[in-house]
Amino acid sequence: MASMSVKLFGKNLRNPVMNASGTLGYGEEIEPLWGIENLGAYVTKGLSLNPHNGNPTPRVWEERQGLINSIGLQNVGVDRFFNEYFPLFKKKKTPIIVNFFGFTEEEYVACARRIKPDNLIIALEMNLSCPNVKQGGISFGKDPEMVYKIVKEVKAVTRIPIIAKLTPEVRNLREIAGAAYDAGVDGFTLLNTMPSLVVDIEKCSVPIRGGLSGPVLRPIALKAVYEIFSSLHVPILGSGGIMNYSDALSFIMAGACAVQVGTATFVDPYTIPKIIQELKNYLEQLRCPRISDLTGVAHG
Ligand code: SIN
Repeated sequence: MASMSVKLFGKNLRNPVMNASGTLGYGEEIEPLWGIENLGAYVTKGLSLNPHNGNPTPRVWEERQGLINSIGLQNVGVDRFFNEYFPLFKKKKTPIIVNFFGFTEEEYVACARRIKPDNLIIALEMNLSCPNVKQGGISFGKDPEMVYKIVKEVKAVTRIPIIAKLTPEVRNLREIAGAAYDAGVDGFTLLNTMPSLVVDIEKCSVPIRGGLSGPVLRPIALKAVYEIFSSLHVPILGSGGIMNYSDALSFIMAGACAVQVGTATFVDPYTIPKIIQELKNYLEQLRCPRISDLTGVAHG
């Protein structure tokens, strides 16, 4: 039997497939269709210190090769997540990665400090795409100095491993990743969505501005994974337009130790269990003993 398990920060995951943050609700919403325990790890919607209402509708928009979302970071807040939703993951012994954010450095730090270590918490995934309200709204993740400072401050208040989720909206991704690495980051999620907008030509208006995800992003995210894998030696979670097992494999071969599936779940809510099964079939057909042996093999 081929092994689908992967090790992340010293903990065993049953497989390398996760949801992307914000695409499986708080976990319980998918339960009528398939059990959350099938995931390698569940990634939370971005949590903040206090609950957040998010944006007015429309919040999602279908595009030809993707999806635009403008949820506006709506979430129940870190305390309510742990009081109300985390017990399901405890009951099902399902590891989680806690995506979190703030609009100021202080909020990031306070939120990270609030999350107590637990055997099931694999890592905290820092969403670095949020606007820094104190500095005129520039995204934290676009300035290497800001990235260095905020990662360093968050690392100082928690012993849970920190993963930086980076934005594609930069020309110097290696420099940004390098700044996070120098500050002691433990891993990366590559990449978040790309800022975009839609024009309604009948109403002469802009109905939505938001993050573009889906297949259109895949080659861009793959390049990011490939390049960061060859320069920085920390685990990478690949994310961007993974629709099926071959897309997942391409990220693993480029250097990801695990993958996150987001937009595809809105096309077919069974995509994640299908990808897990198809990856298993692939390993068995190839007589490859372990999925973890395939990380980075595209580098030759
Ligand atoms: C949102 O809630 O608007 C999306 C968050 C993100 O893509 O980082």
